[in-house]
Amino acid sequence: MKHPIVIAIDGTSASGKSTNAKLVAKALGFVHVDTGAMYRTLAWYCLQQYVNPEDPKAVAATCRRWKASLANVDGHVHLLVDGKDPGNELRTSEVSAATSHIAVVPKVRDWMKQKQRECIQFGSLVMEGRDIGTNVFPETDYKFYLDAHIEERTKRRAAEGVNENLAARDQRDSQRAAAPLMIALGAKVINNSTLTSAETSGLILAEVRRRLEASRNAGRDGVMR
Ligand code: DC
Repeated sequence: MKHPIVIAIDGTSASGKSTNAKLVAKALGFVHVDTGAMYRTLAWYCLQQYVNPEDPKAVAATCRRWKASLANVDGHVHLLVDGKDPGNELRTSEVSAATSHIAVVPKVRDWMKQKQRECIQFGSLVMEGRDIGTNVFPETDYKFYLDAHIEERTKRRAAEGVNENLAARDQRDSQRAAAPLMIALGAKVINNSTLTSAETSGLILAEVRRRLEASRNAGRDGVMR
C-alpha cells in the first residue's frame, strides 16, 4: 500500500480491543499501537519520580520534560523512557489506578495525541484506545467501537486475575471533560459478548476490506495525508 491507512479501534475496558487490534494488525501486516500502554508509561514514570498522579500541574510538568521516544519493536509501537521499555511494570494495579488520573489532564492528552499521530512514520497502523476515531485520527475512514456486556467484561478481567470495578472505569472514561470515550461518527459498533476473538477480528477485517473497496470505487484511496 503506497500511502498508510489507520484503523482506529476504540471501546470500553475489557471489550477485546488489544486482542483484536493485534489479530487485525497481524493479518494485514500493519503496525499495532496500544495507546493505553502509552498513558500507562507516563503514569509509571510519575510513580518512579515520586510525582503525585492526582496533581495535574505536577503531571503536566513531568510530561513536558520527560525523555520519551517511540520505537517499533517487531510491529508493535512502544514508548521508551530514557531509552528503557517498562514492559510488564505497566500492568500493575498501582499503575492502572495512577493512569486513570493522569489520563484526564488536558496537557497530557495533547502530548499523547501528537505522539500517537507521529506513529504514522512506521506505516499503516491499527491503533487501539478510547479516543482514536474521535480525536487522534478523526479523518480515518476505518473506525470501530468494541463493547460487551458488563458481566462478560468483568469475567474476562477476572480470568486475567484482575478484579476491577469496570462500571466505575466506564463512567470515568466516558464522563471526563477531555476526549471522553464516545462512539465516533461512522464507526462500526461490534458487541462481542457472544463472539470469539477470531469472529470479532474477522468482522473487523471484512469491514475494512469493504470500506477500502468502496473508497477505491468512489475514486478515493482512503489513505492518510
Ligand atoms: O486500555 P488500558 O486499560 O490499558 O488503558 C489505561 C488507561 O488509559 C485507562 O484508564 C483509559 C486510559 N486511556 C485513555 O484515556 N485514552 C486512550 N486512548 C487509551 C487509554
